[in-house]
Amino acid sequence: MRDLIIVTGGNGRFAKILKEKNTKLNLKFLNRRELNILDIKSIKKNLLKYKPKIVLHTAGLSRPMITHYNNIKKSIDLNIIGTANIVKMCEKFNIKIIYFSTGYVYEGKKGNYSEDDPVKPMNNYALSKLGGECSVSMYNKSLILRITMTEKPFVHKKAYVNVKSNFMFHEELVKILPYIINENGILNIGGKSQSIYDFAKKFNSKVKKVKATKKKKIPLNQTMNLSSLKKILKKIK
Ligand SMILES: NC(=O)c1ccc[n+]([C@@H]2O[C@H](COP(=O)([O-])OP(=O)(O)OC[C@H]3O[C@@H](n4cnc5c(N)ncnc54)[C@H](OP(=O)(O)O)[C@@H]3O)[C@@H](O)[C@H]2O)c1
Repeated sequence: MRDLIIVTGGNGRFAKILKEKNTKLNLKFLNRRELNILDIKSIKKNLLKYKPKIVLHTAGLSRPMITHYNNIKKSIDLNIIGTANIVKMCEKFNIKIIYFSTGYVYEGKKGNYSEDDPVKPMNNYALSKLGGECSVSMYNKSLILRITMTEKPFVHKKAYVNVKSNFMFHEELVKILPYIINENGILNIGGKSQSIYDFAKKFNSKVKKVKATKKKKIPLNQTMNLSSLKKILKKIK
């Protein structure tokens, strides 16, 4: 029997794709009603009930990005305190945590960011995710994934020609996940370094070019160095 992995935020966008496409992992998806990350008792009850080997922590607040400015309480609660609650309970029961963080924790100016480069979150969302990373980093049995991904099909009608990133689709992470769950520390996760427009146009020829202006303060080179990920994936080929 494969070790059980609990997925927090089991009804989220990524979790839904994981549920649909997973073939290799033994996963138990728990939605907010079943496991509330703001309620220590609810976390404890589920860990005792399912005795998982790993908690895949995807629950949290991402979109709309403006919420991380309009409602910082919600952002702090879900991404910082909720994550710290999960870490505390994982530590108590000696369970590994895999935390879904973001590539936005890097400044996004020089590009090719390695896992040990200094971080300088580019917005409040990224600050809240880095807040979550802090408690996860304090616990040895942990893996932080700094992810750059988006849903398929690409949701926007326009895409930046002058912003470089490592976008990949959710389903690509589903394929990678079984091969990285035994890693520890921090791992950058994404696809090819390219402009967002180049990424988007491969899947939607109608997507329109748009330029990020200085006024919008969008970091222009958000690319991450993916050599650690590539090394891991090479071993299994
Ligand atoms: N999407 C991306 O492209 C991307 C990129 C990099 C990193 N990430 C990270 O990956 C994770 C998953 O992203 P996503 O886009 O799938 O997020 P999502 O669709 O917003 O899903 C988050 C889930 O968390 C749940 N949740 C909210 N409050 C909760 C609570 N108190 N207790 C338990 N669950 C709660 C939500 O439940 P309800 O539906 O009931 O509100 C939702 O199902 C997030 O942590 C995000 O920061 C995402």
